[in-house]
Amino acid sequence: MGRLFKQTIRDVPLAHKTVLVRADYNVPLDKKGRIADDLRIRASLPTLEYLVQQGCKVVIIAHLGRPEGREARYSLKLVAKRLKKLLGKKITFVDDCKGDKVRMAIKRAPAGAVLLLENLRYYKEEKANDEAFARQVAASVGAQYFVQDGFGAAHRAHASTSAITHYLPSVAGLLLEKEYGVITEAMAHPKRPFVAVLGGAKVSDKLPLIEALIPKADAILIGGAMANTFLATAGLALGKSRVEPGQEGEIRAIYQKAVAKVGIDKLHEFIQLPSDLAVGATLDGRTRRKNVGLSGVDAEHYALDIGDATIERYAKVVASAKTVIWNGTLGYAELPAFAHGSARVALELATHRKITSIVGGGDTADFVLGWDAKHGESFSHVSTGGGASLELMSGKKLPGVEVLLDAR
Ligand code: 3PG
Repeated sequence: MGRLFKQTIRDVPLAHKTVLVRADYNVPLDKKGRIADDLRIRASLPTLEYLVQQGCKVVIIAHLGRPEGREARYSLKLVAKRLKKLLGKKITFVDDCKGDKVRMAIKRAPAGAVLLLENLRYYKEEKANDEAFARQVAASVGAQYFVQDGFGAAHRAHASTSAITHYLPSVAGLLLEKEYGVITEAMAHPKRPFVAVLGGAKVSDKLPLIEALIPKADAILIGGAMANTFLATAGLALGKSRVEPGQEGEIRAIYQKAVAKVGIDKLHEFIQLPSDLAVGATLDGRTRRKNVGLSGVDAEHYALDIGDATIERYAKVVASAKTVIWNGTLGYAELPAFAHGSARVALELATHRKITSIVGGGDTADFVLGWDAKHGESFSHVSTGGGASLELMSGKKLPGVEVLLDAR
């Protein structure tokens, strides 16, 4: 595993202290406002258990959604309930993240207690990385240490990930350490063949990742709406399919770099695109899957998945890999009829356990967690970070990590 260059909770004398922990509890919610998946809550348990064992008062801060002010549906109260179940311990929920209520609740709490404070984003100062707000949170909690364990939010420079570190000695939690280690190790020293599977909606979001992968990967398999954009750039008519305009220059630059690495003869083995597609007439659950060749997408159809021949080809490449990073679903995976490509990649990774498989967070994680009867354990690592894992894989520095105390 790659090594985090920052101090962690194991490096500092936390025992019996009040510790402020930033977690990422930005869990997906279903239409009824229930937690659709609790991976992020589960992933926070090792750090919390460690701190409880050390007799700390553990005070957790987090955000949920992108509320405009105090929107009740984004209250962290529902996370407190789930956390109580998973940790098997009382959680004191405080319906504010600073001020007297917080101060009093912490004063009353015994050693080893766990408290969860209300959504930081009820205050606009959180996203503004406001110094005064961070200082107030730190002072209300009266903590002696700050622990950054919200890997999924570590690509944000917000008050609870950046400014707060100006007021408390700040170290990494165990989840942050693990995510950082697994992802940077796979990118820096992959066992080969190293294959990247990329999908999702936008090419522009993934450009830095593709660029980082060209010198490192042995093959890059492209699917999803991202593949549509590559195919449209090559001149194919794709009917009503989602295509991102204005990417021609970027795609040309990607190909130039790829040709410089592998030569023109091997280009299409190195960057692989679909050779057939699955189309549908509508974007709802009623539409039937129809397999067509690349020139067979008529004006009334959407390309919604990689086609059957492409699925077989991609599956073989994945099965022969030793390391696979996967970022972005290969089709409109919300509809089972168009999740075939993504499901097949998941199946190859789950059955070939010799492959180190790293699944990026966000939509890809949501998909594999829904697909996997073992709730993600069929893969080497399912990241809790969407944007954060993408940025880390792309070789970017994460603001929420950079600000922590350097390892000695
Ligand atoms: C995420 O879900 O990617 C993180 O929790 C960050 O949330 P944000 O994109 O609303 O900043």
